[in-house]
Amino acid sequence: MTGPDILSAQYAADPYPYYQEMLSSFPLYLHPATGFYLVSRHAEVTRVLQEPPFTNEVYAWQLEPVAGGRTIVQMDGPEHAHYRRLMGAPLRGANFREWIVPEIERMSAGIIEEFRERGWADLRADYADVMPCDVVSALLGLPAEDRPTFRRWFVSINAFMSNFENDPAVTAAGLAARAEMTEYLRPLIADRRARPRDDLLSAFCNAEIDGVLLHEGQIQAHCSTLIAANGDGTSATIAYTMKELLLRPEHLQDALRDRSLIDRVHLEAARLNPPVHMLLRFAAKDVDLPSGHVPAGSTVACMVGAAHRDPERFGQPDVFSPHRAEIDPARDFTPGGSILHFGRGRHFCLGAHIARITVHTAVNQLLDALPGLCVAEGASLIEKGTFTRNLTHLPITFTPAPRGAIATAP
Ligand code: HEM
Repeated sequence: MTGPDILSAQYAADPYPYYQEMLSSFPLYLHPATGFYLVSRHAEVTRVLQEPPFTNEVYAWQLEPVAGGRTIVQMDGPEHAHYRRLMGAPLRGANFREWIVPEIERMSAGIIEEFRERGWADLRADYADVMPCDVVSALLGLPAEDRPTFRRWFVSINAFMSNFENDPAVTAAGLAARAEMTEYLRPLIADRRARPRDDLLSAFCNAEIDGVLLHEGQIQAHCSTLIAANGDGTSATIAYTMKELLLRPEHLQDALRDRSLIDRVHLEAARLNPPVHMLLRFAAKDVDLPSGHVPAGSTVACMVGAAHRDPERFGQPDVFSPHRAEIDPARDFTPGGSILHFGRGRHFCLGAHIARITVHTAVNQLLDALPGLCVAEGASLIEKGTFTRNLTHLPITFTPAPRGAIATAP
């Protein structure tokens, strides 16, 4: 007896029945084709994500080639602590919300303007994919007119990250995007070294580790990390949050009346449909987990999608229930919550608050700006992805509205 084949077409189409099989019968098994040990129960996934001897060395092959250098996600110990402070300060600093919230609101309103008069849109392509690229580009302080180019690199670099099928075209496109981005960033880095501004690129350009400025390759790698770390995550979260709301009128009405519920809907949508289904770790030593033995040198795949439906952790795990007690917005955007798609422990996502603000803004503005918003009649909603997962399209219709009246912060 072997556990489910995570590379089969049936698994890619609908992994959820296989997650039940993993949780009940194969909580830890070796998947022969990938050579990964798959772990699925919530308690064990949580442990593997954050405790030694499991490390993040896997990102050396998963991310480093396309980032062009070592990145924060693959570091450990004091090196990781240095870089976490360096990136964390501008991403979570005291005055951070003051500028990022209005900026995200403005960008969101601008994207909605593009399709508002039409009466229909593909919420995935026209909105959810565009927002996260623009947010990263704004955080870095890249010129607004370069955003379309940046969006193209964003897509290619993320596809490279999830390219388990080793499609040579995807690899080539990812590496080409990195090469183009390297050339593009070179003069901007020189500029920010000479004339620092209030953006993340300037923070990288003028940061010192042990008294030495980061060299250009390190800065380039940090910029790529922001793309890869944000990945398709925010796009999928926006798409799934909107899908769950639009297909469930009772929850939509609740959220329209009380916007403070949006965080709960976001978290429950991401529990049931996590944007990240699998996170990898390297076992630096032999380990005995409750479900079995993991030999030193193995790659362990933490099955986040399965852990989010573990009945030992979540009552009625297949039911969409934003009010469930196991979810708590005060904890689930921090490393202490029960939701695992932002990771866990010392590598917990540094952008979880940005994702929270982005999804909150998206839901608020889409509901306000598009009267009669609903999923297009007859639309079939298809999902794709094994490592990360998203709807391929989310066709919507609404009453066309004239441009120019989307509420943003004063
Ligand atoms: C819903 C959206 C997002 C998801 C699902 C997500 C997911 C994750 C996950 C799972 C990790 C940990 C990886 C691991 O431990 O192997 C991570 C780390 C990270 N994320 Fe996010 N992320 C999101 C948005 C963002 C955004 C918007 C940013 C910044 C603009 C960001 C920046 C980072 C950084 C810098 C790290 C590395 C932290 C470290 O290694 O210490 N993320 N993210």
